[in-house]
Amino acid sequence: MGCILSGLGWTPKTSMDPVAPEASMPTLELSLQEQELLTESWTLIQQDIAKVGVIIFIRLFETHPECKDTFFLFRDVDDLQGLRMSKDLRAHGLRVLSFVEKSVARIENSSRLEELILELGKSHYRYNAPPQYYQYVGMEFISAVCPILKEKWTSEVEEVWKVLFRYICAVMEAGYREEEKHRNVKGGTTKPLKRSQTTAI
Ligand code: HEM
Repeated sequence: MGCILSGLGWTPKTSMDPVAPEASMPTLELSLQEQELLTESWTLIQQDIAKVGVIIFIRLFETHPECKDTFFLFRDVDDLQGLRMSKDLRAHGLRVLSFVEKSVARIENSSRLEELILELGKSHYRYNAPPQYYQYVGMEFISAVCPILKEKWTSEVEEVWKVLFRYICAVMEAGYREEEKHRNVKGGTTKPLKRSQTTAI
């Protein structure tokens, strides 16, 4: 199968639209067979995670340069090709893919997984990284791993990864909105944290 990706097949402005606060939390529905497809393909992807992490973020910054501005470490770097060699970008990519690994490991425990992703969405509010961009990380992940898996990348494998990323993006958005609401109720700031206030850098 070719590696042509048309998107995650998900429009962010649905159940998580801020005008629909009563919307329920998205759920992850994967059969046992689909869960196996995910874990089996992850064991192959795992060998190349450092490379995949860098590819995802270079492509994200190429297609959506405004995303780079949310990163204190990269916002002033203009040379994207130079960034490919950056240890910081490698470390960041690894953090993101470790999260994907955790999600795959908890695929059978959806309540624990939901909790983790909600917290991640809340931290992204503090990083000032808005939900409309989350899906691009999923899309770039899929287009980066497709050539690695070669003939093992089937339409079924692609679909389970899309389902997982749609879920991650939707729950992250719910967490982001919760944090946004919480800060607005408290009358707190909606500005991004200073570098020293983030947990990650
Ligand atoms: C599926 C989408 C995404 C996932 C799974 C993800 C995951 C992560 C993880 C695991 C971290 C490490 C720190 C933490 O746990 O809080 C992180 C940090 C961060 N993310 Fe994301 N992220 C996603 C999308 C994005 C997007 C689209 C942006 C920018 C618009 C972004 C900006 C940031 C920033 C600024 C940090 C803090 C700096 C750092 O850790 O180096 N993230 N993200």
